[in-house]
Amino acid sequence: MIIQPKVKGFICTTAHPAGCKKNVEMQKEYVEKLGKLDGPKKVLVIGGSTGFGLASRITAAFAFDAVTINVSYEKLPTDKKTGTAGYYNTKAFDEIAKSAGLLSKSFNGDAFSNQTKEEVITYIRENLGEIDMLIYSVASPRRIDPITGETYYSVLKPLKTSYTNTTIDFMTGEMSKITLEPATPEEVEGTVKVMGGEDWELWIDALIKEKLLAEGAITIAYSYIGPELTFPIYRDGSIGKAKEHLEAKALEMNEKYKNNKLKAYVSVNKALVTQASSAIPVVPLYISVLYKIMKAKGIHEGCIEQIYRMFSDKILRENIIVDEKNRIRVDDWEMREDVQKEVIEAWGKMNQDNLEEILDLDGYRDEFYKLFGFNVQQVNYEEDIDIS
Ligand SMILES: NC(=O)c1ccc[n+]([C@@H]2O[C@H](COP(=O)([O-])OP(=O)(O)OC[C@H]3O[C@@H](n4cnc5c(N)ncnc54)[C@H](O)[C@@H]3O)[C@@H](O)[C@H]2O)c1
Repeated sequence: MIIQPKVKGFICTTAHPAGCKKNVEMQKEYVEKLGKLDGPKKVLVIGGSTGFGLASRITAAFAFDAVTINVSYEKLPTDKKTGTAGYYNTKAFDEIAKSAGLLSKSFNGDAFSNQTKEEVITYIRENLGEIDMLIYSVASPRRIDPITGETYYSVLKPLKTSYTNTTIDFMTGEMSKITLEPATPEEVEGTVKVMGGEDWELWIDALIKEKLLAEGAITIAYSYIGPELTFPIYRDGSIGKAKEHLEAKALEMNEKYKNNKLKAYVSVNKALVTQASSAIPVVPLYISVLYKIMKAKGIHEGCIEQIYRMFSDKILRENIIVDEKNRIRVDDWEMREDVQKEVIEAWGKMNQDNLEEILDLDGYRDEFYKLFGFNVQQVNYEEDIDIS
């Protein structure tokens, strides 16, 4: 089959197996170029098929020589339709890990369910004995509570008052004003249920109960803060409440499991083009401005650069480097005063006629296509390809 991108709104409904494989290979090569790190050796990643989770898995495997287990929720291919990018990334990762002599195991299932947890736990018990790191990198629009069976939805809305700002259709480059109505209390509760720390804790509880988490193990979940510009839709919005919950959960778990010497951290990462961030209003426009400025300063990073730096510079040292709230900050370059000052200046003067000058829209689009295995160098898109 010849596969072309089919973009609908903020997602692409096709994915290219060869492009996805190349993306994984290039991330592996990046890690190998930077060199080995003395990190955990048995690593479980929840949400490791794309974005920050995949970069975490690749870093663990190829910098730490770790055995990696991944749980993600991806669509498999059919005769007529490609699978999702995460499906091909995972397939490629397993092949590449195998040829490097590394054990890797991938589960495709709902991480929120008891059934998936039981399957993963059984695998760890029978094959690894215990694990020493859990990365929690799930981004999902919904979650079924495993106890009550109720479905919760996560929304991206401001709190209390409506919020108006400029947004962009990053495919056409058309700018417009968007007004978002505030989330209801039920919507905020739903967002916290889906994107907060409840499921992260359920994983840790289950592993500790079964004595499958090594003493002194580390667990990291990912968060975002961003600039004041996006506060109403992000940090002070419904998703911000979920991130506050996630961050509080890290502190709670450290207390709860201090006898196990658990090290639970949240790492605040940089704004990047991923499937999750493309869905947030206003944020893609902010990212396009940010990319232009950070690239000009030579400090732009993608997921793999962020995660390798998180381990090498912040975690794998005598004392983990944290902020006043015990959070790891790899958004430090994004939040630099000079960077944010330029973002605000650019935001104030951008309009439909000066987009090229102010935004890195081509860079945004290019990375968006790459998420799905398109626009990847050395891939022949004219070639018939097996989509299984
Ligand atoms: N993209 C950003 O700009 C950014 C910045 C900072 C922090 N973060 C955070 O990083 C984390 C990962 O986000 P991302 O941008 O890498 O997202 P992503 O969309 O690339 O990855 C999401 C992952 O979650 C998995 N997933 C979704 N639902 C699942 C389920 N029910 N069961 C199992 N797996 C499931 C997907 O399969 C995928 O592996 C999120 O917490 C996000 O808020 C993102």
